[in-house]
Amino acid sequence: MTLRPFALSEADVAVVDGVLRLSRDHRDKIEVPLVALRDRCRCPACRHPSGQRLLDPATLPTDLETTDIRIDADTIRMTWMPERHESSYAISDLITPPLSRRESTLWDAGAEAQLPVSRYSTIISNDTTGRGALLRWLQGVQQMGCGLLHDVSTVDGEVTRVAELFGHVRETNYGRWFDVRSLVDPSNLANTSLGLAAHTDNPYRDPVPTMQLLHCLESTAMGGENMVVDGWRVANVVRELKPAGFDLLVRHGVTFRYRDGTTDLSAHEPLIMLDGDGIVSGVRFNPRSMQDPLMPPAELAAWYEAYLLFARLVADPRFQIRFRLDPGDLFIVDNRRVLHGRTAYEATSGARHLQGCYADIDGLHSTISMLQQQESS
Ligand code: OGA
Ligand code: ZN
Ligand code: ZN
Repeated sequence: MTLRPFALSEADVAVVDGVLRLSRDHRDKIEVPLVALRDRCRCPACRHPSGQRLLDPATLPTDLETTDIRIDADTIRMTWMPERHESSYAISDLITPPLSRRESTLWDAGAEAQLPVSRYSTIISNDTTGRGALLRWLQGVQQMGCGLLHDVSTVDGEVTRVAELFGHVRETNYGRWFDVRSLVDPSNLANTSLGLAAHTDNPYRDPVPTMQLLHCLESTAMGGENMVVDGWRVANVVRELKPAGFDLLVRHGVTFRYRDGTTDLSAHEPLIMLDGDGIVSGVRFNPRSMQDPLMPPAELAAWYEAYLLFARLVADPRFQIRFRLDPGDLFIVDNRRVLHGRTAYEATSGARHLQGCYADIDGLHSTISMLQQQESS
């Protein structure tokens, strides 16, 4: 945003009801509550050179007043009472910028061509081209909530090296990484040859891992195609079609649980979460680990109506992107947003072996930001 110079004088400043107001002929009005202005002070007593705040909000007086306001070009200075603390601010910094949220493109089956796809060898090379390719791929993953990578060495644990390209592996009771293949007596249906309807992983954790990676080492078995579904998109469709049922999915928690010989994990959370602006910001969908939902019968019937609609939309090819993983292929999902699943496979027809790991999305955002700064410097 470019700002016009704010040629003001003291006559353009007023403090009304605890709010500092700067205006000229009723144009270019800036309003900042005194308490917020005091808290923004960037003097060495209030801010550490790191940019972190030293000022303890518990010590701010409740009867703040400001005196001796002076304006000098783009700078406004004042003395805070009763503290007698002196502060100065760039007036252009006082204009409230519009809140920017991270961009997401909600998608359905038609978006297949927009999925970010790259090669491991391209995004690991630590030169301008490699860093640019990594940035583009990570931005795609941020925007779409998932992405594909080819040519990842079919070596044990290699999946964690991909997670480390943007963040840190989230180790769990399944280990730093885990095998997904058909076992004789599995504690998790992922380790059978059954189909897995699209789901989010580990809804029984608090907090849930926000990124999941699955890497294919072997795939000669018949079947076992993967699919991904934009859960935020599906949630928005449920909201349009059944607003009252949608509210129940948001308001009522359900218990998710996972147990084996050494672990008993559970979390009680709603299927759909909204952010402070009412925008869908999380889904947990996993019938395998969902316990019987408990709520008053009248609400339970309406809850189920919305839940079944959600499930049918998730299973609807109009919302799915499908692909077959060959050895060396890997996909990554934002596990709060994009559901993943697989079709059944014939365990007797060949081998199917994936390895997975979890990671967190804060690292993805941070790496994107650092790569952007490097690129523009
Ligand atoms: C999983 C899973 C899918 C697959 O292990 O979480 O969903 O393709 N696996 O086997
Ligand atoms: Zn200060
Ligand atoms: Zn899964």
